[in-house]
Amino acid sequence: SAAEKGGYDYFMLKEIAEQPKAVADTLLGRIDPSGSLTLDEVRISPSELREIDKVVIVACGTAFHAGLIAKYAIEHWTRIPCEVELASEFRYRDPILDGRSLVIAISQSGETMDTLMALRHAREQGSKVLAICNTNGSTIPRESDAVLYTHAGPEVAVASTKAFLTQLVACYLVALYLGQVRGTKWGDEIQAVIKDLSRISEEVERVLETMEPVRALARTLASKNTVLFLGRHVGYPVALEGALKLKELAYMHAEGFAAGELKHGPIALIEEDVPVVVVVPSPRGRSVLHDKIVSNIQEIRARGARTIVIAEEGDETVVPYADHLIRIPVTPTLLQPLVATVPLQVFACELATARGNEVDQPRNLAKSVTVE
Ligand code: AGP
Repeated sequence: SAAEKGGYDYFMLKEIAEQPKAVADTLLGRIDPSGSLTLDEVRISPSELREIDKVVIVACGTAFHAGLIAKYAIEHWTRIPCEVELASEFRYRDPILDGRSLVIAISQSGETMDTLMALRHAREQGSKVLAICNTNGSTIPRESDAVLYTHAGPEVAVASTKAFLTQLVACYLVALYLGQVRGTKWGDEIQAVIKDLSRISEEVERVLETMEPVRALARTLASKNTVLFLGRHVGYPVALEGALKLKELAYMHAEGFAAGELKHGPIALIEEDVPVVVVVPSPRGRSVLHDKIVSNIQEIRARGARTIVIAEEGDETVVPYADHLIRIPVTPTLLQPLVATVPLQVFACELATARGNEVDQPRNLAKSVTVE
């Protein structure tokens, strides 16, 4: 009913709008006043966590994209090797696991059969499993050694939005916590990022306040056949997520690429007026990546692409090459997906509406996939 949707036309719009609160709720009580993390729910002892020599993340769909981003954070802050695998592929390739592997299963519903089968396989090999889940008491957390709940609240729309942002938050918390417990040379950076994380929900709110031009742009693209997405580093999984949202909701051909791969094939797809969304990393920090992606934007624009550029406030170098510019707040590199994904959700939702599609119940899809 309209009341359930809180005055929004669709659950998806409501859930997009709830993201600042979902993010804040997922952080609540997990950062103590001294600025360190307390993840008491993670009932795997610090000494066990210090023994871990490998992290393996299993998930499907949007949760898998959260896992891809988590890999960057975990490897950077903890120096533990981390693999991310589609849950449906995992057990069939006889993965190398033992008692020193930490397997993280990410699932909004906690009922996804592919993910459940992957975690059962991991436990059979003696690995510890930590679930990141949004649904209290669901099967995946019940069968795991420990669980870190995301506090997104119920997600009704088939397309995942607020659950994704909270999965990212949970992944950052786990990465930072592992870094804290094990002690790495990134101690100061970890402290600083914890502070940034505690303020990030306000940044998500600011992004939401500036989405009108994104909606207007989406409406102009309603008759297109294809939209491409490019990103690098953590922007690459963001590009994959932007493309998945568009497939699910707008039923358009959409693909995400690592920008560095363009020249290895996908650039052949670029032709006159094809819309390409580019997620630009911060010019600060890993600025090499920024400069490389700016030259990618130049290259595709020279070949006729219509460039839709998502870039940090104050990044002026992209201006000459952006047919459309979407600004996002300045954040630490690894946290950028929390703000960069939001315009892509709004974009897909509006395109779906413009094409007359059912936003909350896309064709052929179920909210939770309980078969393998
Ligand atoms: C995302 O928009 C999807 N509908 C889908 O990819 C989803 O993320 C996937 O099925 C995993 O679901 P889960 O998080 O409930 O395990």
